Amino acid sequence: MDNNKIIIFDTTLRDGEQSPGCSMNTQEKIKIAIQLEKLGVDVIEAGFAAASPGDFDAVSQIAQVVQNSSVCSLSRAIDNDIKQSALAVQNAKKHRIHTFIATSPIHMKYKLKMSEDEVIKRAINAVQYAKTFVDDVEFSLEDAGRSDISFMKEVMDAVINAGASTINLPDTVGYRLPDELAYMVKELSKYAGSRAIVSVHNHNDLGLSTANTLASVLNGARQVEVTINGLGERAGNCALEEVVMAINVRKDVFKNLYTDINTSEIYPTSRLVANITGVQPQQNKAIVGKNAFAHESGIHQDGMLKNKETYEIMRPEDVGVYKESTLILGKHSGRAAFRDKIEHLGFTNVSNDELNSAFERFKVLADKKKEITDDDISMLITDESLNQNKTYELTSLQISDCSDGFATAAVCIKYKDELLKDSCIGEGTMDAIFKTIDRLTKIEGSLEDYKVTSVTQGKDALAKVTARVVFDKDMPSCVGHGLSIDTMSATARAYLGALNSFVSQKTRLAKKEHYI
Ligand code: KIV
Ligand code: ZN
Repeated sequence: MDNNKIIIFDTTLRDGEQSPGCSMNTQEKIKIAIQLEKLGVDVIEAGFAAASPGDFDAVSQIAQVVQNSSVCSLSRAIDNDIKQSALAVQNAKKHRIHTFIATSPIHMKYKLKMSEDEVIKRAINAVQYAKTFVDDVEFSLEDAGRSDISFMKEVMDAVINAGASTINLPDTVGYRLPDELAYMVKELSKYAGSRAIVSVHNHNDLGLSTANTLASVLNGARQVEVTINGLGERAGNCALEEVVMAINVRKDVFKNLYTDINTSEIYPTSRLVANITGVQPQQNKAIVGKNAFAHESGIHQDGMLKNKETYEIMRPEDVGVYKESTLILGKHSGRAAFRDKIEHLGFTNVSNDELNSAFERFKVLADKKKEITDDDISMLITDESLNQNKTYELTSLQISDCSDGFATAAVCIKYKDELLKDSCIGEGTMDAIFKTIDRLTKIEGSLEDYKVTSVTQGKDALAKVTARVVFDKDMPSCVGHGLSIDTMSATARAYLGALNSFVSQKTRLAKKEHYI
């Protein structure tokens, strides 16, 4: 094993997806997994297979498309969880099962209601069972940050003997300070020696996740669990981009330590995750925020003009940030200029179909919107690339609003080669749209969650709608996203997006008997 390599374990699709409002459907997760592989992450935690048929389906589809990164699924220390993980990752070129149980006194007493001996026994069983499916097993001591070091050593001995090769020490509640975590990691890395790789997984409740992760790396951790844009439970997880760039920029401190991340893919990956989830990083977010490389004050601008190193510790292009291209697109722009623009924005694998449909939508947008920004175009192309091969596609929507609270929606949907048309009266505009779509598709959904965000700037900004819909009470809800300058059209697209996800999930699940 190369002791200078820091293994990058990305959990955007698992812990990141647990952030409020960050649910993604299978197609969206696949798109992100492919980009994570391009970024060069070593392990992709693709989900928690046993959580639901939808999660299982996403992990198993990712396992089939990813070629170089290892694909991992999380499981509690429970046989059925481990079995679902094993089945979901079985077709991956490289695969890992990640299993965990809590080891802190507070979790063992109140949550698990188990003694230390029972926890150890469960941990051993889980690792041994996982080893019957895969060679690569990771074991996490949940809430390690608040666990007793001598007990953690006992657990480590037990799970290493059972076959775990990576021992992860999560600071689950983001409680520790860098010095404290450094001490814990040093002690446990020494204890593990060459028997296992020590990993850290830091949450950001006190804003210390990056500092804690870097302190851990300097004290023996050789795997870091991170997410793009720092997404994750509550205040989030440690951000991949921050750890990787700190290791790169501060070679004087980190010496020979390195990661295999292709840093110029950092910004495109960040944009993709933000576009898909609709959760934009804060403007002043390190590395990927809109202002991360903006110099506003006169003194700074003067310094930059004289020598960039006065105020710049890394170049924007090192992380894939390029200046807005000077090519302004408008309604008279042609397909070639449009292709040139999207390549400049970092979309290099766009198919002709995706390009053509994004171009059609761009033309419609250019008719309505004064200025088309790079963000508008990025959103359009991401949306199109996620919506190819859709079963149902919105072709037109007309709404008439009545003053007494009723509204009528006339909807036209393309289904296979047919155009389905109908109209309904509803209590308000959204109700009318959903009722008409339900009647046209003969599938009735109920809206569980609905969110509108403005993804670009100005009064004529693009609206992104996220809808979570239940179509069958025995199946998990489905997420759909819709993008349009008109909020109601974005709403109809989001509802149809959820419906398309439901239809494809149902078709695939019907062929799989093994999900229990
Ligand atoms: O924060 C945590 O403890 C986790 C584990 C399940 C790895 O996410
Ligand atoms: Zn976590």
